[in-house]
Amino acid sequence: MAEIIDGKKISAQIKEEVKVAVAELAKREIFVTLAVIQVGADPASSVYVGNKKKACEYVGFRSLSYELPEETTQEELLSLIEELNGRADVNGILVQLPLPEQISEENVIQTISPDKDVDGFHVQNVGRLNVGTKGFVSCTPAGIIELLKRTGISIEGKECVVVGRSNIVGKPMAALLLRENGTVTVCHSRTKNLAEITGRADILIAALGKPKFITEEYIKDGAVVIDVGIHRQENGKLCGDVDFDSVKEKASYITPVPGGVGPMTIAMLMVNCLQSTENILD
Ligand code: GUN
Repeated sequence: MAEIIDGKKISAQIKEEVKVAVAELAKREIFVTLAVIQVGADPASSVYVGNKKKACEYVGFRSLSYELPEETTQEELLSLIEELNGRADVNGILVQLPLPEQISEENVIQTISPDKDVDGFHVQNVGRLNVGTKGFVSCTPAGIIELLKRTGISIEGKECVVVGRSNIVGKPMAALLLRENGTVTVCHSRTKNLAEITGRADILIAALGKPKFITEEYIKDGAVVIDVGIHRQENGKLCGDVDFDSVKEKASYITPVPGGVGPMTIAMLMVNCLQSTENILD
């Protein structure tokens, strides 16, 4: 029976650490400000954005909120980003995805100054991660590394299998596990014999976006299983990409949904915002 990794507790510890650092900066009249932009009123995005703003308030950041209408043009959004890039009193810029179809996500991400790209999506930050220099790292995979480290799970020399190859999770996850000296395999929708590969994993990261897809047949005895998925079931309850009830019997550690990876994403956003401010001090 697996030990449950408590993402809520670990994320709370991280937010406390950020809060202490923010209070220290405030004594020197230095403030951390995150600009949060939402285009349209997608209900899921509104929940995520609301949680991000709440976390800012909790740790003592200032947040600027831009709620733009669904019909906003790309030109209007890019000009707002450029204005925020130029403002010395704005440290981080976050544009909630997805965006309406008239706006190219790629153009938006690449317009955000890499020094204010607290999501870690800009090609410069992706490049820095892949060559191993300092930069912002995508919050969800960065949060997973923190979950592992703070639970005392070592990555070095372990067989790490990532299922999913998105720019936001799968690819940066693989780069981070490699940086921690794991032996990394990335699987995706065209992978053959998926269960054979995931069955070798000491550490399995499920980020494929299919509810309860990873059942016990995909897991090695004693594996560490990290679930990135979040899905609303017909009964109204949330579930992940992992079939928690069967997998927990075989794994050594497992993250629950909710209360596993989810809260870590916001905690790491706070860490990145703090970093964006500290970077301009030195
Ligand atoms: N939409 C879903 N996840 C994310 C995220 O991590 N950052 C942003 N900006 N939008 C998202």
